[in-house]
Amino acid sequence: MRILLAGGAGYIGSHVALVLLEAGHDVLVVDDFSNSAHAAIDRVQHLTDRTVELIECDLSDLATSRAALRDQEFDAVIHLAGLKAVGESVAEPARYYRTNLTATLNLLEIMAEHGVNRLVFSSSATVYAPAAEGVENLDESQPAGHGITNPYGWTKAMNEQIIRDIQVSRPELEAVLLRYFNPVGAHPSGRIGEDPSGIPNNLMPFVAQVAIGRRERLAVFGDEYPTHDGTGVRDYIHVMDLAEGHLAALDHLRPGVATYNLGTGVGQSVFDVVRAFSDASGREIPHGVVAPRAGDVARAVADPSKANRELDWKAKRSFADACRDTWTWQSQNPNGYTGG
Ligand code: UFG
Repeated sequence: MRILLAGGAGYIGSHVALVLLEAGHDVLVVDDFSNSAHAAIDRVQHLTDRTVELIECDLSDLATSRAALRDQEFDAVIHLAGLKAVGESVAEPARYYRTNLTATLNLLEIMAEHGVNRLVFSSSATVYAPAAEGVENLDESQPAGHGITNPYGWTKAMNEQIIRDIQVSRPELEAVLLRYFNPVGAHPSGRIGEDPSGIPNNLMPFVAQVAIGRRERLAVFGDEYPTHDGTGVRDYIHVMDLAEGHLAALDHLRPGVATYNLGTGVGQSVFDVVRAFSDASGREIPHGVVAPRAGDVARAVADPSKANRELDWKAKRSFADACRDTWTWQSQNPNGYTGG
C-alpha cells in the first residue's frame, strides 16, 4: 500500500516509516517539522535504502493541506501528527485544541475527498481515567475520556470521539485507535531516536541526557506512591515494537472503529528505570526525590491481550533492550539530530 504517514518525521513516526518501508509499503510523510527533523527522514531512507516521499505542510491548515495533497494517491492514513507536551498544553490549551483537533478533522475530510477509508490513529493511555481500586493493568474496557488532567490528554480523547462519530456517518471507514503506553528506545542502529527540544518532559530522554552529561541530575517526582518502591510505575514499550503495532493494525483494518492498547503488560518504577539505564550505559545516574508532579498517577500499565489476540502482535523487546538502544542513540547523537 501507499501510506500517508502524518507526523512521520517525529520520534514515533520515523520508526513507523522504517517498519512500513521494510514491510514493502510506500510511504508519503506529511509533517510540518515543528518538532521533528529532516535528518530523521534522510536516515530512514539510508537505513532502508528506500525513498520516502515528503510533503512539508501543517495539517491544521485545510486549504494548504488540501492543495498539497490534491494530486497524491494513497490507500491508508496513519495519523501521528500533533502537539504532545503535557505541561505546554496546560499553558497553551487553545493552541493544543486548535492544532490537534483541526489536523484530525482536516485529514478525515481529505480522506473522504480522496475516497480513502483506512485510518490508524495514534491515541494514548492518557485517555484512561485513573485506575479504580483493585484494577491492576488497564484493558480497553476501562473507563476513558474523563478525569483527564491536561488539555493534551483531552485532545487524544476528543480525537477518538471525532473518529467514532465520523465513522457512524461514513460506515465504510475502517479505523483503529492505538492507545500507546510509554514509548522508549530507538532503532538498534542508533541512527534514529527521540530528540526532544529543550528540557525533556519524559523520564527516559531525561535519564539518557543525565547519563551523557547534558543534565546534572534527575528529579524523581515522588516516592510515596502505593507501588513496590514508592515511585511511579509505567509500561515502557520499545518504539520498534510500537511501530510494528501500526503495521499489524494496518493489516487488520475492517469497517468500524477498533481500540487497542500498545504496551508490554509489565511495569517499571522510576527507580527501576534509573537502575536499568545505569546498567545499560555503565554510567551513574545522579538522582534525588522531589515533590510529586501534578496530574501524575501512581501506576499506568497496559493489559495488551486484545492486541496480542486480535492483531497478532506482541511487544517482543525487553526493557533492557530499550535502555541499550536508547544509549546507543544517545551516545552516537549526544545533541540529537542537530548535533550531527
Ligand atoms: N518522572 C520523574 N522525573 C522526570 C520525568 C518523569 O520522576 O523528570 C516520572 C513521572 O512522575 C512518572 C514516570 O517518570 O512516574 C514517567 O513519566 P513520563 O513523563 O515519562 O511519562 P508519563 O507517563 O507521565 O506520560 C507519558 C507521555 C504522555 C502520555 C502518557 C500516557 O508523556 O504523552 O505517557 O500514559 F499521555
